[in-house]
Amino acid sequence: MKENNFSKKSFISIDELTQSELTQIIKKARMMKNLEKQGKRYELNEALKNKRLASLFYEPSTRTRTSFETAMVELGGNLLGFAGTEGTSVMKNESILATVMMYWANHADAVVMRHPKDGAVRWASDVLGIPVINGGDGKNEHPTQALLDLVTIDEITPGINGTKIGFGGDLAHGRTVRSNAIALSKYDNITINWAAAQEFAMPNDLIEFLKNKGVKVNQYDTVEEVMKNSDIYYMTRPQKERIKDKTPQQVNEIMQKYRITLDKLTANPNIRILHPLPVDSSTAEIDTDVFFSKNQYFFAQAENGIFLRKALLYEILNGTESTTFNPNIEQIVANNREYLQSKEYNKGELLLDRIEHGIVIDHIPDGLAHTIDETLGFSKRGYKIMTLANAESSSLQQKGMLKITGATLTEREYKQIVEICPNVTFNIIKDWNVAEKFKYHLCQNDNCVTRVINEDVPPRFEEDGRCHYCGRK
Ligand code: NCD
Repeated sequence: MKENNFSKKSFISIDELTQSELTQIIKKARMMKNLEKQGKRYELNEALKNKRLASLFYEPSTRTRTSFETAMVELGGNLLGFAGTEGTSVMKNESILATVMMYWANHADAVVMRHPKDGAVRWASDVLGIPVINGGDGKNEHPTQALLDLVTIDEITPGINGTKIGFGGDLAHGRTVRSNAIALSKYDNITINWAAAQEFAMPNDLIEFLKNKGVKVNQYDTVEEVMKNSDIYYMTRPQKERIKDKTPQQVNEIMQKYRITLDKLTANPNIRILHPLPVDSSTAEIDTDVFFSKNQYFFAQAENGIFLRKALLYEILNGTESTTFNPNIEQIVANNREYLQSKEYNKGELLLDRIEHGIVIDHIPDGLAHTIDETLGFSKRGYKIMTLANAESSSLQQKGMLKITGATLTEREYKQIVEICPNVTFNIIKDWNVAEKFKYHLCQNDNCVTRVINEDVPPRFEEDGRCHYCGRK
């Protein structure tokens, strides 16, 4: 069987694909669509015979989940998994790691996963020995949506190069715009126009990324101005489930000015309206009247999701051997410790306070040493604790110190401590001396999977400082 660039590979971020790989998958999706239009829906129903896709949706989904399932069935494969965590042991606090392992054990050949935490799907991919497809991770990415958007844009414009696209709705908390914009940035002469409420503005890191790739990015005040300057308007819903500081009613009010209504379409009667869907029928970010207009392309866009996912599953799984479950997975270690020079202590120095073995946590802000002990329960577990203001600093600038005799810390405990006070330093004491001294860095994105204490995902950073999981700096 001919190997291709997708065979047995995970697909986590749209940024992983080159323009030629994008072209390859768009072409394959078009082929799948042609089969359908020729009445040959089941033409390839031997392609994934005996192949099994685990469909693990921790978050609600209609299109993404069903289109993956339809694609799998029409290619002759089969499915297992869950749509919502109720009825699974996630309800008993089972971790992502332990959950996804069980689907590999149950003979899944690939996984499609959606999760509310940024980077969760990459974590699953790192621990599993089978390909994992990102069906949407938090406010991070939705790469298969971006691919089906490209299939659609390719279909309804003279070509993807030169596309002028408008973005609207909630550009701050959604993942579809991020993946769509990154995908477009791989093409030539792309213009992105956007208008959104301040609270829902396009994130600066994304704008910066796009500009560095040569994309023109223009912010406008109104939907009409964006429409006038664009061929396509890509609307998105407010991600109410991720907006914790506003009521749904407040969100609807903020969105009012940015809704797509029939009268706004007069600004550009040829505008093509796309939307990843669902439309929030309470916000009605696209007015129902617009559903019946000739400008509406979003249902065709959604149907393209089926062909795209058929294409992708075919490329990843067709002609591959099944992988045998391996319960002895390799531990993935964190690379987030910044080692510091420790000063040599002279004999006799700080004699009263010195400990033989254990941990000294230094630079604890005033009053928080107690919180650390309460949270981690060192005293309760019988460790000898000393809290003191550093002898070297003045009483005005108390740098609290916690000395825990005999203790070692787990990765989880380091994280818990740094969640309470991010700037502490850890000193590992062996034989009266500082054997190691370091700071323990966390990802700055508080929705990153590495920040969920119980998931125990070791913080990892790329060489340029971006989080390995959620991609944020
Ligand atoms: C989107 C998602 O879940 O990110 N839906 C989809 O997959 N088509 C968009 C959304 O929920 O707003």
